[in-house]
Amino acid sequence: MCGIVGYIGNREAAPILLSGLHRLEYRGYDSAGLALLETLGAEVRSSGFSSNGKRPVDNGQRTSDNGQRTTGLVIEKCKGKVTALETLAQSTPHHGTVGIGHTRWATHGVPSDTNSHPHTDQSERIAIIHNGIIENYLSIKERLAARGHTFRSETDTEVLAHLIGEYYSESEIRGTGLDSHVSELGHRSPDAGHRTLTEAVRLALNEVVGTYGIAVVSADSPEEIVCARNGSPLVLGVGDGEYFVASDASAIIAHTRQVIYLADNEMATITRSGIKTRTISADGLSGGNEEITKPVERIEMELEAIEKGGYEHFMLKEIHEQPRTITDAMRGRILEEEGNVKLGGLQNHLQELRRAPRLVITACGTSYHAGLIGKYMIEQYARVPVTIEYASEFRYRNPIIEEGDVMFGISQSGETADTLAAMREGKRKGALALGIVNVVGSTIARESDGGVYIHAGPEIGVASTKAFTSQLTVLSLLAIMLGRMRHLSVVDGRAMIHALRELPEKVQKTLDDTERQIMELAESFKNASNFLYLGRGYNYPVALEGALKLKEISYIHAEGYPAAEMKHGPIALIDENMPVVVVAPQDDVYEKVLSNIQEVRARKGHVIAIATEGDTKIHALAEQVIYIPETLAMLTPILSVIPLQLLSYYIATARGCNVDQPRNLAKSVTVE
Ligand code: G6P
Repeated sequence: MCGIVGYIGNREAAPILLSGLHRLEYRGYDSAGLALLETLGAEVRSSGFSSNGKRPVDNGQRTSDNGQRTTGLVIEKCKGKVTALETLAQSTPHHGTVGIGHTRWATHGVPSDTNSHPHTDQSERIAIIHNGIIENYLSIKERLAARGHTFRSETDTEVLAHLIGEYYSESEIRGTGLDSHVSELGHRSPDAGHRTLTEAVRLALNEVVGTYGIAVVSADSPEEIVCARNGSPLVLGVGDGEYFVASDASAIIAHTRQVIYLADNEMATITRSGIKTRTISADGLSGGNEEITKPVERIEMELEAIEKGGYEHFMLKEIHEQPRTITDAMRGRILEEEGNVKLGGLQNHLQELRRAPRLVITACGTSYHAGLIGKYMIEQYARVPVTIEYASEFRYRNPIIEEGDVMFGISQSGETADTLAAMREGKRKGALALGIVNVVGSTIARESDGGVYIHAGPEIGVASTKAFTSQLTVLSLLAIMLGRMRHLSVVDGRAMIHALRELPEKVQKTLDDTERQIMELAESFKNASNFLYLGRGYNYPVALEGALKLKEISYIHAEGYPAAEMKHGPIALIDENMPVVVVAPQDDVYEKVLSNIQEVRARKGHVIAIATEGDTKIHALAEQVIYIPETLAMLTPILSVIPLQLLSYYIATARGCNVDQPRNLAKSVTVE
């Protein structure tokens, strides 16, 4: 979702913030902004910003009486991409070694200069950037407005800035005639005027309901950044005499690999000499406002992994990485001789897994589609019932968790708010909660009782590709492991492992053999208004995923459907303008899918089939056939999805769409 980056040290902050924002842009990108603490001489450069949100203005309040150097708050922000902010920032360079920056994905208020972050308090001396949602912002806003606060934006974040301002500065309240209302807040202590920024932030956060990852700076306390987390990730970077804060480690790994992960209900005060962490409010675990010691951890992530490496888009790079990422998902996990696998993060839970009467999978988006295929795999080979549910649905009904149920949350980012909440709900009801996650150290990874990393490396393209096939690889390992605990023979286990081992090469072959054909296909279908995707069995979720990919990045309406269900509705849509992608490898339901193709042809639909190499039968029926190598039915989705990823990519680029940053979407959805 939105991206946060902050810097305090001895270098110019602006270039560090801007390059960090570029790395975070994939998370959300309708606007961007930064706040710098600038040391001023007798002249005040700027300390607020004008109502159009574009340029900082000098409100003339900040010169010290004796003409000494003082600190001004400079804010630059605008609607649009980070490059627009860069141009703005370069037009009037500002200097400062402390600052915060933000890329926004709108929740409250349309994307606009004014709604962009950072937001300031009433005095325009405090600036805040925020990921998440303050749910009770309207009631706080009304209270503050009644006391004379004026708000420039429609955002919940600005309200939080004002609330922090109230707690921070008694003189501000006097200055705005608000002192008579102070008691209404009910939290102000007699020494309010001497409150630290940290304390002001903490008290304000105790009033808000919602989720947040925030970073706050103040011109009156220019040697610190205060940040806090509840439901929206924050990682602190420990450099050599310099410190960072970011919503995502990719923003700071160019500078340091030493990090501290903040957990929910924790906050940090970062100065040039170190980081102090404490809890925010009493939550049953702590009394609130207690100092805590957090471990410094090392992140293993190569810079080149988050760069495009010669590809035009991250999405294309990630599609092409799949032979390697699938190998990485299996690496060190296969026990060839035993026809089994060993998943380190599940070793402590083998008993529970062996006895589990049922597995419950929860996920969102592409990860949910992987989970659907996982259900088919596990039920076929381990004969354990698996229920799967969208995390957003699971968390708000009253799901049944019974004795011994084991829950799996699947998430690329490990931060999706709904998946995290569903996992917590499952745990509360007594389930063992395990994660299948890509981002190491992410919240789901940390809060799970155990789990498996998919090791796909950073996925930057908003449309998930390599994470999907890595999730499927891990789910097939899990199916083998659970199968071997129950009914699967060593011989069958070995055969599955053998098929798995051959996959990376087959994925490479699929890429090599189909890419050119798909580019041409994309040209012919780029102007279609609708697409239908059909599949059965293991490839029904692949149809869902193919349709999702196309929608996400090319904005063409597409529907995925179980092929046989087509007769119960979508068939009415089929005419000579409708391209229908049918995923039809030679598996148990192949013949049935051929009949479905006939039904489409009879209504003049254009059939693009994904079929097994050597299948001549389908050639006679479909207008276009894209061939994939033969493999075990369970593993066909890992191959059949590749042409669908390429098809959506090339259609989107042929339509001139921004593939890596599709409109309205965010990579990691940290709000519900
Ligand atoms: C967003 C992304 C999707 C992703 C989904 C779930 O919608 O754009 O690509 O599949 O979130 O994300 P997760 O990180 O939990 O897998």
